[in-house]
Parts: sequence; structure tokens; C-alpha cells
Amino acid sequence: MESTKIAAHSKSQLWAKKSISKLMAETSAEPGSNQESTLKRTLSSTNLIALGIGAIIGAGLFVRTAAAAGGHAGPGVTISFAIAAFACALAGLCYAEFASMIPIAGSAYTYSYTTMGEFIAWIIGWDLVLEYALGAATVSIGWSQYLNALFYDFFKFHIPYQWCHSPFQISDGLGMYAGEAGVHGIINLPAVFILLMLSLLLIKGTQESATFNNIIVIVKVSIVLLIIALAWKYINPANHVPYLIPADAGTATLSTGQVHDYADPLNHGWLGVLRGAGIVFFAFIGFDAVSTAAQEAKNPQKDMPVGILVSLAICTALYILFSHVLTGIAPYKDFIAQGGEASVVYAINHYMPGHEWLASLVTVAILAGFSSVILVMLLGQTRVFYTMSKDGLVPAVFSKLHPKYKTPYRSQWVFFVFVSLFAAFIPDSVVGDMTSIGTLFAFVLVCIGIMILRKTDPNLPRPFKTPLYMIVCPLGALVCLSMILSLGWENWTRLIVWMAIGLLIYFVYGRYHSKLRS
Ligand code: ALA
Repeated sequence: MESTKIAAHSKSQLWAKKSISKLMAETSAEPGSNQESTLKRTLSSTNLIALGIGAIIGAGLFVRTAAAAGGHAGPGVTISFAIAAFACALAGLCYAEFASMIPIAGSAYTYSYTTMGEFIAWIIGWDLVLEYALGAATVSIGWSQYLNALFYDFFKFHIPYQWCHSPFQISDGLGMYAGEAGVHGIINLPAVFILLMLSLLLIKGTQESATFNNIIVIVKVSIVLLIIALAWKYINPANHVPYLIPADAGTATLSTGQVHDYADPLNHGWLGVLRGAGIVFFAFIGFDAVSTAAQEAKNPQKDMPVGILVSLAICTALYILFSHVLTGIAPYKDFIAQGGEASVVYAINHYMPGHEWLASLVTVAILAGFSSVILVMLLGQTRVFYTMSKDGLVPAVFSKLHPKYKTPYRSQWVFFVFVSLFAAFIPDSVVGDMTSIGTLFAFVLVCIGIMILRKTDPNLPRPFKTPLYMIVCPLGALVCLSMILSLGWENWTRLIVWMAIGLLIYFVYGRYHSKLRS
């Protein structure tokens, strides 16, 4: 059945491509379809924009803004955000063209299948596990840390160290764990808990999950707006002068005793701003997850570009305003010397007297923000594997839909276990940058894919066209590639090892079960 929907240009080659015209015919037959085996089309354009914002605003804004400002960019972190947003907008335009043209659940995986063939599609599908599954694991570990902080703030109670840290972590005996130095972590139970709750919600239904996401988005955007509005009058213009960190800014001592030297070329001036862009890039990850829900959109041709580009634009505006305010209320050196991970809370407590309640709201926004990021990442992961399973590249269990809820429930369970293993037993520092490198790699291939398809199928109907594609696409690929290079050899090695595992699976399983090549 499936093999009638796709056409093999080649039966024996690794580079066999899906025929886009047949894929489109398949898609156009789907809205309103009653078939048992298809996902339900329940998402409106508002849901899609909210999905984007849900996935975008999280740890990046609340944790990385201060890290980028304090260590590298100073008040110029607003420019770092603008640069990262520019890179994402280039990729976002390409995603929008693809998602409106091929509104299938697989996102970058499907786009690659039609333009660069099965082998590259497999690589990108496997790579997306880094973005979505490991992204969910990273953020669930952050969620666990902030839940603990909230308990401590309100009830002076903390979760025992061993039950909220991985076995690779040992307590330093500071902060809430004073007097408990040397305790080994065993398992991160709160991280597993939030993953379980959100997986159950996703199994219950995409519409229910979207409603939950909408509520969270309203909460977190309101809190971000509230901070911007209330903190505006506490901006001290002296903190914005000079706007970029000068080379002679001296040093700052971290709470760990380490000395941060601003004379380092990446820690001041324009290079510092660029380094800051690499750090805050994480804050934009997630807008592409909107495209994984294409098969559940009511009107994908029109709503996909809107969902991707509008969510990106709203978050960019919020990020720039937020970072302007944050670096205005506190000198940037505070963020590295005293603020640490909780810099936003620190800045409010120290520079906005009488607003301690706002600091508590920030923690609530962070917990809410992290939950929706995890939710959309888990949704995106199962939707990519849903399409890969339909194509035969991964087992059928990943496309088995719940008889009543019409969600890929078995896949959701498999990924709950997989993501939980990382969240429970691996520290977040290891999985965090892998999320960024995996995402950037997907962006590069999507940008290249648009160029290929414009050449190979110039007459295909394109409800949304990337403007100036001969500039936007190569520039997008180049900018993302340079960000990959800036992530360092440790992350390149991890990417290569992950890809080697993927290739092994493809040559042992995928190529023999591919429906396109059978
Ligand atoms: N953009 C998401 C965040 O900042 C991944 O948490």
C-alpha cells in the first residue's frame, strides 16, 4: 500500500528519492480522512504559533542570556540575540517553504528524502534524535533543578541529592546542600517524573497537549512581559555604557573561584558578541519543531509558514527586550561573578527592591517554560520516527497509533524510556551541546535541500516561497556551519559517534526494510 504512495527513482541505490508529487497527492488526500492509520488534523494556526513559542522560550532565555552577557557580550547580548535570530530566520524561511510544500510529519527527514535521497534522509532522521530526544532530556534535567530550587525557596525543603542527580555527579556541599559534600547522585527522579507526565499527556491526544501548551505559553509570555515592564524603570543607563565589553575590562572571579579574563579575544568586543550568539542560539531551538506537526495541522499550506515564522519573530522581539532590560538593571560582571545559573532571580532580588515576589514568579515561568519545551520536543521526536517507520526505516512500532486517541502511543512509551535513561543517569552538560550541534546540522541540510529542489522541481506548487533563495539558502547553510565549527571538537566527536551508531543500524536494518527500495 505504502509503496504505491512513493516512487523509487532507483531500487538499489542509497540515494533513492521519494517522489514529491506522489507525496503531495498523498497529503492532499489526508485532510478530513477517516483512515485508521493517519494522524488527526486538529491544530489551528494559533495552536501552531503557540507550539513554536512553547518549544522556543525556556532555558535559553532564563539561563543563557546572563551567561552570554556576563562572560562575553555584556549589554551587546541584544546584538548576539539578533545575530542568532538572523541565522534561525534564514533556516526558518527554508523550513517554511518545505513545510508548506510537503506537510508531512517527518520535517527535515522528509525534506531530505525527497531532495537528497534515502541515505541522507536516514542521517538527518537519526540526527534529529539529538535535537528532540536529547533536547527533552537536557531540559528535563533543568526542570528538576528548578523544582528543587522552588521547594527550597518556598518550603526550605530540598530533594535528597542522590535522588535528583546522575551517578556521575557528586555534591560540592554548597547552597541548599551545605554540609552534604561528597554525596553521590543515584538517579534524577524529578526529571523522569516530568517526562512521564508529559508523555502521558501526549498519548492522550495532540489537541489536549496543544491546549496544555497554550496555557503554559500564556503564563510564560505574561511573566516575561511583566519582567520587561516592571524592570524597565530600574534600568541604569550607566550599565549600558560601553555597549560592548572593552578589552581592558579586567577579570571577574566566579563563585567556583575560577578567574574569567575579559582580555581573551572571545570575551570582549565584537568577537565576544559572536561567541554570545553561539551561546544564545540554544534559546531559539524549537521553532522547527512546528514543522513536525505538519500532518496534524488543519490547513498546513498556509499555517505552517505562519507557525514557524511568527513564533520566531515574537520570541526574537521578547528576547531582545528582555536582554536589554536584564543588562540594564545589573552590571554585566554580576552575571558571571555572583548570579550563576539563577542570574535573573539574582538581578531582581538585588536591583529591584520590593520585587522578591517577581523572582518567585520567574521560577514558576521557568518551570512552565521548560515543561512546554519538553512537551514539544517529545512530540517532534515521535512524529519524525512515525514517518520513518511508515517508510520502513525503523520498526512498525513507531507508527502504531492508539485506537482511540490516534497518537503514536507505543513510540511515545519507547521514547519515554529512552529519554528517561539520559535524563536519569547522564549530567546535562554532556547532552546540552549535542542538542545544538544536532539542530544546526539539520538546518544546514534543510537550506541545501531548498536549493536542490528549486533546481530539480522548479514547477512544483510552493504555497510559500523563500525570498531571494539564491542568497538566503547558501547564507543560512554557511552561518549554521560556522556555528557548528564554533562548538568544538568534543561535540564534533560526539556527533560522529552518534552518526556511526546510526549508520550501523541503517545497514543492519533500515536498508533491508526500506519500502522505497523494496
Ligand atoms: N529553546 C529551548 C530553550 O531555550 C530549547 O529551552
